[in-house]
Order: sequence, then C-alpha cells, then structure tokens
Amino acid sequence: MEFPAYIRHDKIKSWIEETVALCKPDAVYFCDGSPEEYDRMCQTLVDSGTFIKLNESLRPNSFLARSDPSDVARMEDRTFICSLSKNEAGPTNNWMDPREMHKELEGRFDGSMRGRTMYVIPFSMGPMGSNIAYCGIELSDSAYVVVNMKIMTRMGKAVWDVLGEDGFYVPCVHSVGMPLEPGQADITWPCQKDAASKYIVHFPEERAIWSYGSGYGGNALLGKKCFALRIASNLARDEGWLAEHMLIMGVEAPNGEKTYVAAAFPSACGKTNFAMLIPPKAFQEDGWKVTTVGDDIAWIKPGPDGRLYAINPEAGYFGVAPGTNTKTNPNAMATIAKNTIFTNVGLTPEGDVWWEGMTDTPPASLIDWTGQAWTPDSGRKAAHPNARFTAPAAQCPSIDPNWEDPAGVPIKAFIFGGRRSTVTPLVFQAFNWTYGVYYAATMGSEMTAAAFGKMGEVRRDPFAMLPFIGYHMASYFNHWMQFGRHIQNPPRIFIVNWFRKDADGKFLWPGFGENMRVLKWIVDRSNTRAPGAETPLGRVPLYEDMDWRGLNFSKSDFEGVMSVDREMWKNEILSHEELFIKLYDRLPKELLNVRELLLSSLWSQPQWLDRHE
Ligand code: GTP
Ligand code: SPV
Ligand code: MN
Repeated sequence: MEFPAYIRHDKIKSWIEETVALCKPDAVYFCDGSPEEYDRMCQTLVDSGTFIKLNESLRPNSFLARSDPSDVARMEDRTFICSLSKNEAGPTNNWMDPREMHKELEGRFDGSMRGRTMYVIPFSMGPMGSNIAYCGIELSDSAYVVVNMKIMTRMGKAVWDVLGEDGFYVPCVHSVGMPLEPGQADITWPCQKDAASKYIVHFPEERAIWSYGSGYGGNALLGKKCFALRIASNLARDEGWLAEHMLIMGVEAPNGEKTYVAAAFPSACGKTNFAMLIPPKAFQEDGWKVTTVGDDIAWIKPGPDGRLYAINPEAGYFGVAPGTNTKTNPNAMATIAKNTIFTNVGLTPEGDVWWEGMTDTPPASLIDWTGQAWTPDSGRKAAHPNARFTAPAAQCPSIDPNWEDPAGVPIKAFIFGGRRSTVTPLVFQAFNWTYGVYYAATMGSEMTAAAFGKMGEVRRDPFAMLPFIGYHMASYFNHWMQFGRHIQNPPRIFIVNWFRKDADGKFLWPGFGENMRVLKWIVDRSNTRAPGAETPLGRVPLYEDMDWRGLNFSKSDFEGVMSVDREMWKNEILSHEELFIKLYDRLPKELLNVRELLLSSLWSQPQWLDRHE
C-alpha cells in the first residue's frame, strides 16, 4: 500500500493495511483536515443526496442530513465493553468475550467497505500536544463521519507529527455496514437497519474501538463517547485522572475573579444550555460573565499545584436541536448560524431549518426529518426529538479565552444534576467529597429521547455515566473515592435539579439563564464565601442568600423548589439499595455508610425539613 510520506508510524501503517485487507474498500483516502477538503467532501455529500445545502444567505455554508429512521440515536443495548473478564465490564455494561466478539466483527467487517472509500481520519482529542490530550485514528467508510469529525475534533495532517514514529493512539474502525455491489446505486443514509446488526464495541485492554452498522452521532463519531468516555475512562483509571460526561464553564465575578466549574447531567438534560448560559440583566450589569469551555465531555488531570485541570477534548458541539431557541439558548443559536451540519431537523420552504420549540409559531409548511411534507396539524414532529447540530466550538459567542489552553482550566466545583420532577431540590452542597460521590453515584434521571428506555421513567444514572463507563461501575466509584483522597483542595460538590414540577406538570423553576442565580451561590460557596444552612442532605441557600433581582420568585416559590419531602427521600434513599445490590461486589464501603447516615439523619433533624415542607 502507498502511504503519504508524512506517515512514519509503522504500527499504524500495518494496522491500516490489515483493516484494508479485511474491509476491502475500493479506495483509501488520507484526510488532511484542510478547509478545501471539507468543502470538497460537503459538495460530494450534496451530489450524492446525503446533504441538502441550506439557503446560503439564511444559513451560510450549512447542510441538512436526514438519517435512516432506524438510525437516530446511540444504541445502548448494542454497545459492548469487551474486556477480557466479564466481571471487569461490570453489571451495567453489555459484555461479550473479546475473542468471540473479534470473530463476530471479522465476519461483519469482511468486505463491508466494498464499493466505498475508506477514509483515514487522524484526530486529536484535546489541543494538539497538550499533556491531557490523546490521538486517535478512525478508519471509516462514511464521508458524513469525515466532515463531522472535522468539526468535532482537531482533525488533520498535524496529528501525524504528534504521533511521530511510535506515539500512542486509539485505533477506531467504523463501517456503515452496507457494501455496494458493482453497479449498485448508493442510498443517502447507508446503515444496517436491523438493530441487532449494529455493534458499538470497545476492547478496553486493547484500547480499541470497532463500530458497525450505524452512521449516527456517538455510534459513528468515534472520538466522542467511544474514545473520550469509554476508552478514556479506562486510561483515566490506570493513569490517575478523570474522563467525565461533563460540561466545563467559566464564571467571572464583578471583581474579575474567575471560577471554573464542571457539571455532569445525563444526555439531553441541559449541559449545552448550562454551558452557554447568559446571566440575567442585573447580573450582567454588575459584571458577571459566563464563558464556555465545553458542553459534553471533560478530561481532568491533577496539576503540579495540586489543583485539578480540565480540558474539553472536543472542538465542536453535537447538540440537541429541539427546544433550542433565541430565548432558551441565544449563544447556541448564534453558534449554529453558519458552517453547521444539521441532522434530522425540518427543512423550511426558504431552505432553512426548523424544529419543535425553535419559534413560537411553526412555519405553515415544511419538509419533516423523514423527507415528507409537514404542516403544524399533521400530528407528527417536524424534527426528530434527538435531532442534532454539529457546529465549531469557536463560533460560540461565549467561548472561553482559555478553552484551548493545553494546560486546561482549574476546576473549583463539580455539579451533578438529573431530570427529576419530584424529590430532588433545586440545589444543595454535599458535606464533603464522600457525600458528593454518594449523590453522584445514586443520581437518578427521567428518560429522554437521547437515551435508551421508557420515556419519563426514572433510572439511576451514576455520574451521568451509565451509558459511557468503560469498566465496572463500582470500580469507577472507587476511582473517584481514591482520586479525592489525593487532592490538596478538592472541588466542592453540588447537586442541582432544574426540572422540579408541580402537581399539574408545570416546571417550578424558570431554568435556563435564571440558573445563574444558583450558579452564583455555587461559585461563592466554592470560594468559601456564601452563607448556607445545614440540612440532613447537605448545605442549602436560604431565600435571603440568593439574588432575586429581576425575577418574580417568592419565598414560597423558593420553598416549592427546595422542599425535601421526608417520605419521598426515605423511599429515594431506600431505592438506592437496588443499585448497590447490583454493584455489591466492588461497592466502596463508604457509600453504604453514607446511606445509613442519611437515613438516620433524615429522621433525627426534623426541624429543618418542617421549615421547608
Ligand atoms: P447531550 O448532548 O445529549 O449530552 O445533552 P445535553 O445535556 O447537552 O442536553 P441539552 O443542553 O441539549 O438539553 C436539551 C434539553 O434540556 C432541552 O429539552 C431543553 O429544553 C432542556 N433544558 C435545558 N436547560 C433547561 C432548564 O434549565 N430548564 C428546563 N426546564 N429545561 C432545560
Ligand atoms: C449523548 O447522548 O449524551 C450525546 C449525543 O452527547 S451522542 O454523541 O450521540 O452520544
Ligand atoms: Mn452527551
């Protein structure tokens, strides 16, 4: 095989040769990551019908793709962690013997790229050369993947210089699983329609990823969940750092003091929104500023000064479109004004995009995400609920000036939050690291379209990592416990819930930009200034401790979102047992003890609870 002269890494060369021999593509193309290449590939996608070019004056240099209706989100039941031992993958992951899985995949990948081009995609997760960053090579037969990887990662020739002759890399093989016979015409979204024929496979000991049959999001853009979370969580455990499903944001106080926080919310529970938060007017006038470092994944390493430093391994946003509008997230709307790829949204007659919640009044007609004519009364959704945009991070108006700092940004607080219409109050601070790990480990969230399960049902989603941890969940809890023992001044840990509802199903908290009021208390607490009252669960702000200027939110409204129902909390904590029993063989003993303490203190300190009931 012919390789470009700048590729000097023999191990990668032989791996590419082996993969070519297996997948039998018609051609091999080495991506250079240039803007010309991006434009060329987008044009090819337009010519083949996968992309529809959007109106150049309304949405410059942007495209719409419609996926196959069977290929619209991550497939948790088709995601495998193939560690050597089953116990290492743990009870929350699908496991298959790696030898058997290799055999299965060899069958699937044999000739899977016939009639197609194999793209060699070199990419760096994190600023190139950062000591927190890692490189990967994705071999994919999808041009859609190439252009998305160009936005989502640092993709291109320069990666080969970082790799040199023997640099560490994560090998990623991806095929849509639809080879073309000679003369067979391609379709706009090739994939394996049958769910059982999709495989998203991780070999933790090999640090290798194989993905077959899907072209969508996290299934196919292998730098994202597969590498940056499932494989990286293994690297992180072995090397003493953290790979988390977290946004990273900066908060600048009026005196110029900058505080960085990282927050873990499950899929489609508001990370992008929170990361791009615009403070209410009164806060802005005082000089509060919020900046965005990342919206989905954080890699966090202890620095030489004993503090924790985080990078966003990604270079773009793969964000949920429905619900995004100029009120809920103006920064996201500005970010996706140009140079953006939209997948599974509606197409307006003017050649622009639309989705549920984008405007108050829907367009009179459009083409929906399945390509059919749509009107507001057609009874169908214009956009798929997990429709997404792919946009360059640098286009975000709130992007943090240090977002590409190879050293990362220092993290002062961790925030965990699920989607709970009851039980969990708006905000509280865990007493210490151990309590924080307990709350993160037992976090529950109601299901969304981005996850696998029954909509609305509560499932335990520890650290928002249930679909993303690459090894035994309880070993991961241990890793967090162990990690906390060695930090000088560990970040404070907070729990939030923007999603409390009243009996009629109405949100009790306005959310979005108003979350700044909570964030300010968190930042002040992290810098050990803000007051807070002690409760059995942790520390909470009192009504007087929060800044309510510009929002009509009474003391009783506040009590509505902060109330802790003793019966509900008893049941909540008792229900954690289900998770603990599942993970019993490796569960840190601290968690069992905290559970006992919480149960008893819920009963022994009734006065606070009464005040909030
Ligand atoms: P992934 O990209 O899937 O990891 O998700 P994410 O956490 O980035 O989700 P995103 O920010 O895109 O969340 C989208 C959903 O959360 C939309 O339905 C929003 O309307 C909703 N949402 C975000 N913030 C808030 C909030 O403060 N209050 C309420 N009620 N809803 C919110
Ligand atoms: C998520 O589901 O948490 C996502 C989208 O961020 S995907 O990359 O498809 O996993
Ligand atoms: Mn995510």
